[in-house]
Amino acid sequence: MQILGVDIGGTGIKGAIVETDTGELVTERKRIETPRPATPEAVAATLKQLVDQFDWKGPIGCGFPATIHHGVAFTAANIDASWVNTAVDSLFTETTGCECFVINDADAAGICEMKFGAGKGRNGVVMLLTIGTGIGSAVFIDGRLHPNTELGHLILETKHGSQKAEHYCSERVRVEKDLGWNKFGRRFGRFLNRLEFLFNPDLFIIGGGVSKKFDRFSDNFTLRTEIKVAETLNQAGIIGAAVNAAQKKSEN
Ligand code: BGC
Repeated sequence: MQILGVDIGGTGIKGAIVETDTGELVTERKRIETPRPATPEAVAATLKQLVDQFDWKGPIGCGFPATIHHGVAFTAANIDASWVNTAVDSLFTETTGCECFVINDADAAGICEMKFGAGKGRNGVVMLLTIGTGIGSAVFIDGRLHPNTELGHLILETKHGSQKAEHYCSERVRVEKDLGWNKFGRRFGRFLNRLEFLFNPDLFIIGGGVSKKFDRFSDNFTLRTEIKVAETLNQAGIIGAAVNAAQKKSEN
């Protein structure tokens, strides 16, 4: 089935038409800057522009950087506070005139990696982490998603006191604090070790921009758990959002 997959982020709104059976992009990827302030109305209007650029009339799957409970955003960690309690599914459906299915962005990336990437065919507990402005997580048990986990908000005990993981070892923190790769690796390792202790996963998958540089920081931590880099990289959010929409449509 072909679906327009969209990844809504803090800086850009990216989309492409996806063949959900194969995970292939049927069109080139288009990107529009996220409006500022990124209020629900402004983002919905930008999404409509993107949909018009594809001249798309079919279903849309969207990844969104908040927890999404049955189409409603419950949190707003790195987005405008006015998103909390917004019915994102209905807002986007009304504004675009297309049926929209919204899901947490990391869950979308996870769905893609489990179907087409590093988690393909893997049972047990698989934990995908996306390292970007924030840290997103997607947890799968025998291939089934436990939706809306927020492991980037885990509080870590650090040399600098108690800190939320995404305020300690996200890509944004690495850039803003100008952390070298070794220091970033030690910080990220502290996070992974804590997750390993608490959840005992079978596999970690690391996604987001820093995953391309994994070799530069991975010598700075020791894990018993297998760890892999995401294979679908920056298309994962778009593809996974489209696959989720296809699954939801087939359930209707
Ligand atoms: C949000 C998550 C999101 C992650 C990545 C976090 O700040 O709370 O919902 O998945 O950032 O965008």
